[in-house]
Amino acid sequence: MERPVTLHVDGTVRKVSVDTRTTLLDGLRERLAVTAPKKGCDHGQCGACTVLLDGRRVLACLILAVTCDRSEVTTADGLGDSGSPHPVQRALLEHDGLQCGYCTPGQACSAVGMLDEAKAGWPSAVSGDLRQNVELTEEEIRERMSGNLCRCGAYPNIVAALREAIR
Ligand code: FES
Ligand code: FES
Repeated sequence: MERPVTLHVDGTVRKVSVDTRTTLLDGLRERLAVTAPKKGCDHGQCGACTVLLDGRRVLACLILAVTCDRSEVTTADGLGDSGSPHPVQRALLEHDGLQCGYCTPGQACSAVGMLDEAKAGWPSAVSGDLRQNVELTEEEIRERMSGNLCRCGAYPNIVAALREAIR
């Protein structure tokens, strides 16, 4: 069964008719040719498909496109542009936080979502005092970014980049 869906993708209104079983990831990549979010596992385990949905990070392979009708979808392409990258993107470049780059769009979107969550006071599994504002220590960053895998093992540089972006 097909249903029309309107998505606001990286500031552009996109209309598409999708099978109700289509994930947001497949809707973006296969139907709208939006290829910044990557398909790694397609099972919610690698984070390569992470986008911001109405400002919150989500795994696009675990969400049905029809449930995102009229939502704002921000991919890594929409975080900034080559002339004016988002501070997280700039820090990833400056700290050599990527090797093959496959996981990087998901890492960037996840980091932007993570920074907003910390700013809003959301604790993580390693937060000591749930009543205090969270300080984004290396341990906190590693825990909060643990859903984003990097097969190249660029983790030390990713963490260094995010510590820089926080400052
Ligand atoms: S492709 Fe979505 S989590 Fe791996
Ligand atoms: S940079 Fe290659 S998978 Fe992360």
